[in-house]
Amino acid sequence: MEISIIGAGYVGLVTASCFAELGNRVICVDNDLIKIKKLKKLILPIYEPGLKELVKRNVKRKRLSFSTSIKEAVDNSKIIFIAVGTPAKENGEPDLTGIENVAFQVAKHLKSYRLIVEKSTVPVETGIWIKRTIQLNNIKKVDFDVASNPEFLREGSAIHDFMHPDRIILGVESERAKELLFRLYQPIKAPILITDIKSAELIKHASNSFLATKISFINAIAQICEKTGADIVKVAEGIGLDKRIGKEFLKAGAGYGGACLPKDLDAFINIAEKLGYDFQLLKVVKKINEDQKNFIIKKISNALWILEGKTVGVLGLTFKPNTDDIRNSVSLQIIEELKKERVNIKAYDPKGIPKVRKLFKDIKLYNSPYKVAEDSDCLLVITEWEEFKNLNFNKIKRLMHQPLIVDARNIFDPEKLKTMGFQYIGVGR
Ligand code: UGA
Repeated sequence: MEISIIGAGYVGLVTASCFAELGNRVICVDNDLIKIKKLKKLILPIYEPGLKELVKRNVKRKRLSFSTSIKEAVDNSKIIFIAVGTPAKENGEPDLTGIENVAFQVAKHLKSYRLIVEKSTVPVETGIWIKRTIQLNNIKKVDFDVASNPEFLREGSAIHDFMHPDRIILGVESERAKELLFRLYQPIKAPILITDIKSAELIKHASNSFLATKISFINAIAQICEKTGADIVKVAEGIGLDKRIGKEFLKAGAGYGGACLPKDLDAFINIAEKLGYDFQLLKVVKKINEDQKNFIIKKISNALWILEGKTVGVLGLTFKPNTDDIRNSVSLQIIEELKKERVNIKAYDPKGIPKVRKLFKDIKLYNSPYKVAEDSDCLLVITEWEEFKNLNFNKIKRLMHQPLIVDARNIFDPEKLKTMGFQYIGVGR
């Protein structure tokens, strides 16, 4: 099929290259000229495992192309996905100017039937506004449909998530829209749930809010574990074996970050408020998550006594492993707090360093975990990259000024490290 994706961010770029991989002809549009120029030269704005190869392969096969022109997209595709950013405003409300602008542009160029699909995470009822905007600016009165098809991919495993989703949600209003999307998704083996547009929009916000709730719940239980001497890792395992609960998203740690969960939670709280519902549960979920950072800092200060002048070696800067994304990274938030206490920071991350270097000029960055450990009073592991699990701890112990490990993601075996002579501090254990 001939389709377009407007927005070449994480979701847009992955969606475009995966649909191309499935055999469709895809135009990926972005209004950032430099980004498009680079993409045409196969220089990707983000790191996502496997994405570069996918883009390369499909550009070569002439199934994937990049453009800055929405007109080109509307002229050449039956289905147009909107995957532009919806950043949070100061008050937590999502900024939908990008969506409105795309809807307006699409309307201006409509010449024959098109299906416009919202892929970005948007407040419930955005579909209605997209439809109104297109109707208002659809001078030639061309037939069109709007649909909602939220994306559930995770950064770091985005391609796999796209190709093997737990479910596909199609919020549609007409048979024609339903059939087109069915055809497009036909090669992907996953349950398809057909809903109205508003329900599809709500499913996305409710899903992310539920995931955030699970994380804050387990972090709250971790507090109880610490106070009693129970082990959160075992407790989470015991809870997760109940099929009704499931074992995913029950890892206690430093809390959730990233471009999605914090923003979507704020947005959902704000949407609920506008609709006249005080979403107290989500407000507490957010508060627990914010407190979790201070909880980690408290652990460091309890172990080091005076923070000023001490050196903390930080392993992990991205908001989670297998990505170079540092947006809302808990690691960087903790570093900022530690810096206020005049702690010397040394840091390492397998993929995040270029982005951190650009935005946080005053963090000392090193190219190996061992360099970070050297002369540190505390080694703080805050992003659970696989390579941190296999460090040479004998070497680390020799290099450190004092052998203290704060394992903010519970990735190490506490007994093993204690036997080696480390002071080990985890979360909830
Ligand atoms: C999240 C959702 O998982 C996706 O389904 C959704 O499509 C995406 O947002 C989005 O809205 O676009 P993502 O932000 O890539 O995906 O990352 P997650 O894997 O959900 O992790 C979010 C944060 O939660 C990370 O900081 C991670 O460290 C933390 N986390 C995750 C925990 O603290 N504990 C856990 O058990 C799991």
